[in-house]
Formats: sequence, C-alpha cells, structure tokens
Amino acid sequence: MAKVLQTDVVVLGAGAAGMFCAIEAARRGRRVLVLDHATAPGEKIRISGGGRCNFTNLSTAPDRFLSENPRFALSALRRFTPADFIARIDAAGIAWHEKALGQLFCDGSARQIVALLVRDMAAAGVDLRLGVTVDSLTRTTTGFALHTSAGAWEAAAVVVATGGKSIPKMGATGLGYRLAEQFALPLVETRPGLVPLTFGGALLDRMKELAGISVAAQVTAGGGSFAEGLLFTHRGLSGPSILQASSYWRDGGTLSIDLAHGRDVAAALKAQRQSGGKMAVRTALARLVPEQLARQLETAEGLGDSHLADLSNAAIDRLATGIHRWQVKPTGSEGYRTAEVTLGGVATAGLDARTLQVRTVPGLFFIGEVVDVTGWLGGYNFQWAWSSGWAAGQVA
Ligand code: FDA
Repeated sequence: MAKVLQTDVVVLGAGAAGMFCAIEAARRGRRVLVLDHATAPGEKIRISGGGRCNFTNLSTAPDRFLSENPRFALSALRRFTPADFIARIDAAGIAWHEKALGQLFCDGSARQIVALLVRDMAAAGVDLRLGVTVDSLTRTTTGFALHTSAGAWEAAAVVVATGGKSIPKMGATGLGYRLAEQFALPLVETRPGLVPLTFGGALLDRMKELAGISVAAQVTAGGGSFAEGLLFTHRGLSGPSILQASSYWRDGGTLSIDLAHGRDVAAALKAQRQSGGKMAVRTALARLVPEQLARQLETAEGLGDSHLADLSNAAIDRLATGIHRWQVKPTGSEGYRTAEVTLGGVATAGLDARTLQVRTVPGLFFIGEVVDVTGWLGGYNFQWAWSSGWAAGQVA
C-alpha cells in the first residue's frame, strides 16, 4: 500500500486566497501543502485587470459585496485591510497606481503579484504541488485523509480555496461546492456575475449596429445601480456598468439604462430649439450621445429628418425619457465562459466569520470565491481573497 504522508495543513487551490492562506499558516510554523490541478499557480491573478491586476480597492466595505449576509465579510476585511495588502506590495517594491474609484493596479505586470506570492510561499516553506487531481477527502479521528494523483496525505486542517465556476478553461471546477455538499454545508445557488448580457431579435440588431461604441451610462437592475461606461457589442451589452449590474440582474428581469448619464437631454434640446430651431434633431442629439446612436434614436422615435422646431415639448420629453430610461430585457448572459466571478456558493451561515472555519467540522475551512461573498468590479474580489485567506491562515 502507498505510504500516507503527514502534514499539518492542506490547501486545495493555488489561487489568490489559497496562496495567501498558505503563506500565513506556514509563517506560524505549520507544515503546509498546497495542491492545484493547474500547471501554474495564480492564473486568474495573471490575467486579471487587463494583465495589471486590480489587486484591491480603497473603498472596501461590506456594501461592495453581494451575499445572503453581506456583513459576514466584515470581520476578515477589517482584520486584513487594503492598507495591509498595499504594505506587502510596497515592501516587495511593486509599483502601483490608483485608477478611477479607488481601484489599485500594478504599474507593470500582474505577474509580479504571482511571483511575490510564490516567493513568499517558498520562503515560508510551503510545499506547492501542481498538476495534482484530488480524488477524495474524508474525515479521520484526528483530522482528514486526502487521496490524490500525487499520493495520500493526512492533515489536521484542510482549506478549500478552489474558487468558483467562472472560466472553466482556466481551471475552474465545482470541487469546492461538491466538498461542501459532502460535509452537509448549505449552499447558495450559484450564477455567473460580472458578465456581459445578451439580447435577441430586433433589439440585438440595433445593438449590433452600434457594436464597439461606448457611452457614459447609468444601469439599474434589481437593486443595483452603476454609473460607468457601457459598451455595445455583437451579442448585446458589456462595459463596467453592465458587468456591475449583471450581478444584480436575474433571468427575466429588465434593465433601466440612462444612455446620457449626467446630462439633461430634455433641457438641452429645448434650449437648442430656442436658440436654433432649424437644427436637425439628429445633429442636436449627436451633441449628447454618439452620432450613430443619435441616428438610431431619431429613427426609433419616427423623427427622421425632423428639425428641433418641429418638436413639441411633449415630443422632446418623450425622446428624453427614451434616452434616460431605456428599458431592455436581456435574453441571458455570456455565462461562466466569460463571467469574472461566481455569485453564491458556500453559505456563510455554515462558517465562522472570524476564521472561515466550518462550524460543524473543526479543521475544515472555505475561503475566497467559493464562499457566498462576491464583490463588485474594481479589486474587491481580490481583497476578499486576501482577507479571507489571511483570516483562515491565522488558525488553520
Ligand atoms: P481562484 O479561481 O483564483 O483560484 C482557485 C484555484 O483552485 C485555481 O488555481 C484552480 O486551478 C484551483 N482548482 C479549481 N478546481 C480544482 C480542483 N478540482 N482540483 C485542484 N485545484 C483546483 N478580481 C479583482 O479583484 N480584480 C481584478 O482585476 C479581477 N480581474 C479578473 C479578470 C478575469 C478575466 C477574471 C476571470 C476574474 C477577475 N477577478 C478580478 C476575479 C478574481 O480573479 C477572483 O475573484 C479571484 O481569483 C478568486 O480567488 P480564489 O483564490 O478564491 O479562486
């Protein structure tokens, strides 16, 4: 029979949360083994933020997260903060900058963060093994027994950091959810988040005509409202405002879109009618929204070749409402293939907020994206990975 190896902590998943947890546990003197089926660690970090990794957000707070219990994240986020992560980055000499809205990115490459985590793991004595398939995890009288393609281990603690279902091509699997089920933990239904939305029929035809055009928009869906860029695509709508709203949107729901956020279309058109009523409606609209969109709006309202002077106040108000409160119903989303995150997951009710330990199974932890804590776009998801990984690493 193959020899069973002993260790203190096994971390499943060498992503952001798993590596951070492993470093913390190993610095406490624990023997830590990290297993991943991928051939490289931190693949999502590498491709994140357009290759520059939006590694945290200065506005991190529970209201930036979706969860059945958004307050759950507070304990870990308070104990390991954006400032704490910035201190690590600074100590490693990694240059960074603040983009819009408190979002922090590397000046150089996201690979610098992967390299930092791998270096810190090695320095702390973490045993990292890649290309390993996990076959089974069971409880023993003293902890856990793990069978894998690389051998069998016994450990006092197991940390599940296998992420969500997003982007299967990059190694996402449902292992974390299966293990949660095995240990009778409640799950919150999973669905893709931060994902482009798709449309059909005549509406899609209109969007396709505008593919590649972006506007400053405000998008509202199911209690979330986001004023950021919106991008028309060949499948429907994307851009930060749509990605953000997608996490709040549910199948069958409607989006309300302000296509000229920050402008008062009715007031601008009425003022222009006053000073130059001969101006074509399309020309006046093109001062407020991109020209191709202006042409489409004009046609949709049956105003082809009209001049401002031809429009009554009521007609201008109707046109303005169509721009500020465009109501559209997506047919779906691009799904896990392109979703940046997975909403839902291991229910927080089953976990201790301070340590991320399973309440009913001492020694078993769930951290990072596999947990029902999902951040907005903008660095919040990595901060949750660092904070939850750090919290579990103090006790695992
Ligand atoms: P993560 O998914 O990072 O790691 C899980 C690990 O477990 C992987 O290495 C995987 O191979 C491994 N694994 C899975 N199943 C396994 C199995 N069965 N056996 C063994 N190993 C297994 N967030 C943010 O804050 N700022 C940003 O800029 C971006 N940008 C971004 C871009 C893109 C394209 C995506 C897809 C996502 C982002 N995100 C982001 C989200 C962010 O990447 C995500 O929230 C974190 O990576 C989650 O970290 P985890 O460690 O929990 O999971």
